[in-house]
Amino acid sequence: MSERPEIVPIGQVPELGVVPEKMHAWVIRPDRFGEPKKSFQIEEMPVWDLAPGEVLVQVMAAGINFNAIWAGLAKPVDVLKGLGQGFHIAGSDASGVVWAVGPGVDDHKVGDEVVLHCNHLLYPGTNDLQTIWGYETGDGSFAQFTKVQGQQVLPKPPQLSWEDAASYGLTYYTAHRMLVDRAKLQPGEDVLIWGAGGGLGVFAVQLANVMGARAIAVVSSDDKAELVMSLGAHGVINRKEFPGLQYKDDMTEEELAKHKADLKGFGKRIWDILGERKGPDVVFEHVGKATFPASVFLAAKYGRIVICGATTGFNLNFDVRHLWMRQKQIIGSHFADADSASRANRLMIQGKVKPVMTRLFTWDEIGESHQLMYENKLHGTVSALVGAPRPGLKNLEETRAAIANG
Ligand SMILES: NC(=O)c1ccc[n+]([C@@H]2O[C@H](COP(=O)([O-])OP(=O)(O)OC[C@H]3O[C@@H](n4cnc5c(N)ncnc54)[C@H](OP(=O)(O)O)[C@@H]3O)[C@@H](O)[C@H]2O)c1
Repeated sequence: MSERPEIVPIGQVPELGVVPEKMHAWVIRPDRFGEPKKSFQIEEMPVWDLAPGEVLVQVMAAGINFNAIWAGLAKPVDVLKGLGQGFHIAGSDASGVVWAVGPGVDDHKVGDEVVLHCNHLLYPGTNDLQTIWGYETGDGSFAQFTKVQGQQVLPKPPQLSWEDAASYGLTYYTAHRMLVDRAKLQPGEDVLIWGAGGGLGVFAVQLANVMGARAIAVVSSDDKAELVMSLGAHGVINRKEFPGLQYKDDMTEEELAKHKADLKGFGKRIWDILGERKGPDVVFEHVGKATFPASVFLAAKYGRIVICGATTGFNLNFDVRHLWMRQKQIIGSHFADADSASRANRLMIQGKVKPVMTRLFTWDEIGESHQLMYENKLHGTVSALVGAPRPGLKNLEETRAAIANG
C-alpha cells in the first residue's frame, strides 16, 4: 500500500484503503452563522479517526437537504453546541466507498460501494435516542470522507450513478417509514399525497404503486402533475383550483365559507378520481397548518393521517368531531430506522422505486446550492458531486477510469 498522502485534490481518489491525513470539507463555524453563502466555507480538515463500530466512507456524491441550512443558521437550535468540536460538517445523504473500518466492524469491508442512511443512534445496538447524522452530528457528507456507524451503511444500488444514489435516502426512507411501517398502507387502499411532486411526495407516489394502493397526488403546477402521473399516480389534483382549502388562523366569515366550499369541491374531485363516494384511507401529511384540517375532514371512516412535518406551521387547528365521529387516527412518524431503511433500499436495488433527481451541483457549488434552497429556488431531490469527477459514474472502477482519462 502506498504512503499516506497529506491531502488529495477534489475529483481525485487515493489508492483504495489509503487514508489521507487531511480532506477538503465544507465547514460551518459559530463565527460565521447565517445564510448559507456566509456559513458554508471550504476548509482543509483532518480526516476522522474511527472508534469501534465506525466506518470511514470516501464520499462520491452527497444529497442536499434543508437541515444543513438550519445548522448554519443555528436555528431553531444551535446544533454545534452539543458537538464539542467547535465546527460542523453537514450532509445527511451520501453515496461512496468504504475506505476503512473501525474495530469490531465485520459486516462491511474496504471497497464496498454503499449508500448511507442518516439515523445515527446515540446508543448503537438500541433503537433509542436517534439523532440525525450530518445534522445533529458534525461529521456529514459535505467532505471527501465521512464517518458513520456501521448500522448506517447500506449497499449502493449498482445500476444508479453516484449522484442518483446520493439523492434519495432522507426523503425516501422517511416516506417509506410513513406509509409502510406507520400507516401500514394495504393493497387496494387509497392514499392522498400532499406535495406529491416534492422530495417526500415523489417517493410516496411510487411506494403506493408498489404496494398496490391508489395514489391521489396533489400538486400546484402542470409540470409536477405530469411528473406524478409518470410515477404512477392514479389521479392528480392541482390545488390551485381550490385556493380556499388552505387553512389560516383568523379567517373572515367570507373566507370560512370559501374554505368549506373548496373543501367539499376537493372531496368531490377525489370521488371523481376514485369513481366511488369514499375518501382516502390514508392521508400523507407534512404540510401542517394549511392542509391538516382538510386532511382530517377528507380521510375515510377509520382513515389514518400520517404526519412527519409541518412546512406551513406546527400549531394545527382542526374540527376534532370529524376525527372521533368517523373514528380516524393521527399517526406521527420521524425518519426511519436501519431495518426500515434497509427494506426501502432493497426496493431501490430492485428498481421498483427510482430516484427523481431534479438538479445536480458540483463540489464548488455546494454552498450556493444551499443558498438557492434557502431562497426557495430549488425543488425536489438535489445532489452534488464530491469525489466523483463527473456525473454518470456508477462504481469505483468507472470512477478510476474517468480520473485516469482526465
Ligand atoms: N420528520 C422527518 O423525518 C422528515 C423527513 C423529511 C422531511 N420532513 C419534513 O417534511 C416536509 C416536506 O419535505 P419535502 O422534502 O417533501 O419538501 P419539498 O420538496 O419542499 O416538498 C414539499 C411540498 O409541499 C407542498 N406544499 C408546500 N406548501 C403547501 C401548501 N401551503 N399547501 C399544500 N401543499 C404545499 C409543495 O407542493 P405543491 O406546491 O406542488 O403542492 C411542495 O412541493 C418538510 O417540512 C420537511 O422538514 C420531515
